[in-house]
Amino acid sequence: MTSENLKQAVAEAALDYVPRGEIIGVGTGATVNHFIRALGRIAGDLEGAVSSSEASTRLLEAEGVRVLTLNEAGDLPVYIDGADETTRHLQLIKGGGGALTREKVIAAASRRFICIVDSSKLVGTLGRFPLPVEVIPMARSYVGRQLVKLGGRPVLREGFTTDNGNLILDVHDLTINEPMKLEQQINNIAGVVSNGLFAMRPADIVLIAEEGGIRTLKGQ
Ligand code: 5RP
Repeated sequence: MTSENLKQAVAEAALDYVPRGEIIGVGTGATVNHFIRALGRIAGDLEGAVSSSEASTRLLEAEGVRVLTLNEAGDLPVYIDGADETTRHLQLIKGGGGALTREKVIAAASRRFICIVDSSKLVGTLGRFPLPVEVIPMARSYVGRQLVKLGGRPVLREGFTTDNGNLILDVHDLTINEPMKLEQQINNIAGVVSNGLFAMRPADIVLIAEEGGIRTLKGQ
């Protein structure tokens, strides 16, 4: 199976976790794009969706799904999103698509976070994928210097502005042995909006598409 086939398979599997008649959270990325297309088939059974990006909002609306703000919707029963890396402990790196801040807010406001990935995303230790950090523009150099002190090599994502009007530093060469500690350390740097570590609020379920089918990892 190609990587696209695996993404599509796991996106279809996620439909089983969508409660009918409710408002759900929907993430961003190629895997989620497959999910949104699948969601289109049951759009009439949904109350609506809260979207983590302008790109997903456009796709959801094209599929006939009503998009609400998180302020309108309140807490959500379920959030479905992809990831750039996941461990067996359901801790993630996200933000390859640059939507990490809204993703983190929606995950925090959701009772269940279902993460959908293909098997290439499962790692022993987080950090092979450069860690995205959203920063306000005037703090870019300062934050970069602090990230170097933490052992990373920050690289500005060229020509990219987040939906919130900010910049992304992709931090290479981090060995992330203590994801919760690093998530907090980076959050504490002045000028950081959020970082792509989802360790303090990991996924509740990770669905992994493999050649043999869908594997389900569950948290406690
Ligand atoms: C976007 C994300 C995505 O979930 C992550 O980048 C995975 O994307 P894809 O499904 O395209 O591999 O965090 O900010």
